[in-house]
Amino acid sequence: MKRRPLLVGNWKMHTTVLDACHLAADIAKTCVGLKDRDVLLAPPFTVLSQVAHVVAETGILLAAQNVCWEAQGAFTGEISPLMVLDAGGAAAIVGHSERRQIFHEDNALINKRVRGALAFGLVPILCVGETLDEREGGQTFKIIEEHIRSGLAGVVAADMGDTVLAYEPVWAIGTGQTATKEQAQEVHAFIRNLVAGMYEKDVADQIRILYGGSVKPDNIDALMAQDDIDGALVGGAALNAESFERIIHFQEI
Ligand code: 13P
Repeated sequence: MKRRPLLVGNWKMHTTVLDACHLAADIAKTCVGLKDRDVLLAPPFTVLSQVAHVVAETGILLAAQNVCWEAQGAFTGEISPLMVLDAGGAAAIVGHSERRQIFHEDNALINKRVRGALAFGLVPILCVGETLDEREGGQTFKIIEEHIRSGLAGVVAADMGDTVLAYEPVWAIGTGQTATKEQAQEVHAFIRNLVAGMYEKDVADQIRILYGGSVKPDNIDALMAQDDIDGALVGGAALNAESFERIIHFQEI
């Protein structure tokens, strides 16, 4: 079964307002008339609403790079789902490996973020992935299963249609070392099977699973040709309109 492709640009901690608006405008030009795939940008919080103006009525969707589970309150440094919606966001990246590794976010916290996003009508993009040590120690599937099971704890089947999963092997992020298409497909198939066991086959058939980690114009086509890869979560190559354009306009080979 083929799912609607989803290409996400995660801008991480890059861009001030002017850069962000130029980049979004350039990307918007390349998306004119695009009907068979979704494009989503995740700029920093500080530029979300300005970027929302730039991409208004282009069909491009926006995401926050993280989200809290509360609507408001004493949570210094956090951003609430209502604020994300208010700024024009429709989704939120949750559990990115940089949040897990640098900021020590654990599975329980990430699960609160996933459920919080869903409670307010934001699409959570739950990221999972093993480190190099874990892969070399034969722990890949165990780690992925833990990330998925605990990240989705308490999420009911009805909410799974509004959830996106992203496999991002930590060793492939920002290193130029992409997982091979076979390595990526193997983990994506594992995740889909796992979801089928936790929910139902229909849920697993429909959920979009993105690959992230050194996605570039020269490897996107082969990745997207894999049965269980439904899109990409792109970091570095999404900061350049030309390379992101080539990724958006992938051709399966
Ligand atoms: P790179 O594409 O720069 O490897 O980053 C991947 C990523 O972390 C996207 O969320």
